[in-house]
Amino acid sequence: MKKLCSFFILILLLNSIHIMAQNKAKILVLIHSDNGGTYELAKEIAKGIESENTAIPYIKLVKASQNPNLKNIPVATVDELTAYDGIAFGSPVYFGNISTGMSEFLSKTVQLWTNHALEGIPATVFMSAGSGAGKELALQAFWNSLAVHGMVLVSNGIRGTEELNKSIPQGNSVLGITSMASLKDIERPSKGERHLAELQGKNFAKVAFALKDTHSKKGMPIVENHQNFNDILKQKNIILPQVPKPAGNYQPFVRSGNLVFINQVALKDGKIVHPGKLGVDVNEQQVKEATKVTMLNVISVLNEAVGGDLSKVKQCVQLTGIFNTKDDYTKHADLMNVASDLTVDVFGDKGKHARGTLGASSIPVNSSVEIQAIFEVE
Ligand SMILES: Cc1cc2nc3c(=O)[nH]c(=O)nc-3n(C[C@H](O)[C@H](O)[C@H](O)COP(=O)(O)O)c2cc1C
Repeated sequence: MKKLCSFFILILLLNSIHIMAQNKAKILVLIHSDNGGTYELAKEIAKGIESENTAIPYIKLVKASQNPNLKNIPVATVDELTAYDGIAFGSPVYFGNISTGMSEFLSKTVQLWTNHALEGIPATVFMSAGSGAGKELALQAFWNSLAVHGMVLVSNGIRGTEELNKSIPQGNSVLGITSMASLKDIERPSKGERHLAELQGKNFAKVAFALKDTHSKKGMPIVENHQNFNDILKQKNIILPQVPKPAGNYQPFVRSGNLVFINQVALKDGKIVHPGKLGVDVNEQQVKEATKVTMLNVISVLNEAVGGDLSKVKQCVQLTGIFNTKDDYTKHADLMNVASDLTVDVFGDKGKHARGTLGASSIPVNSSVEIQAIFEVE
């Protein structure tokens, strides 16, 4: 009876979490970025949106990018714009105007315009500049296009400027935050620019939530863009090894609900790579190589678990690295970074995980490393 009660409470809880998520304002943070400056501001805007607890940010690009820091970000379609409760537009400043990439994207919205499809949807803008020349003209130009769409333009005013360090040039503006990326006196966006971006996101989330459901949604549902991680492996010349055969009475992976559980050691072509104990039989460099081999085995097994379609991977939830070390060894984290870096390199944000590392006095088949992994999949 007690168990049945707990089950129903769990169902009710999950249901209310689902309803809460559905009631949140969905905000698109739509950017063009060449060198990543606009993306840095976008992340702060998204942080501010999320801090409100009444809104969910979705960062997307107007066009695919080859920049390694940007290429895993999904690309938005014009049609999906109307599915959001607000859009924060971000672009580099090009000659006192919005960038060509952003301009090209907006020029494809004519049909939305003639259908009045974006009318009443809140918009806010932010920009990454070089020296800051013409930054307010550029922000104003952004507003011009969005005003033609009848969007509700949300400004910054002088919000947060009291706290700015005024001894250095800052990208604050009443229309929206900018960053002056080519002024290298300090790291850009500056601490103050990041803070104002976060405040802009926070305020925008409030407005979007308040106006949610006051405009008719004529558009497509929001699609979570799928990234083809198999293609990313190809681009990075990463060849997945054959899935190692189990050495005992167990499975290479077990799927329970949407979670896939995997354990691997440094087995390659039927042999253990750099076997033994760190500091006795092998050095740190060798254990790092063995860690990479082990993580590739994990990804290979994962690939099998999703039927060869890694785009079904939603998140790397946790990695645990176990290393065959002497009792006084303490740098396990450095060794495990090899596996973590590889995972983030392949899966981008979906590769970011919780992590545990520990030492052991021995590991099966004399491997110097074992990795246990949990992935969430579709
Ligand atoms: C064609 C072009 C025109 C630009 N015009 C300006 C400008 O008028 N004012 C300015 O401050 N920076 C200008 N810049 C610099 C960019 O705005 C700056 O590098 C920005 O940080 C790039 O953003 P991103 O890192 O997101 O690509 C220009 C850059 C390019 C490529």
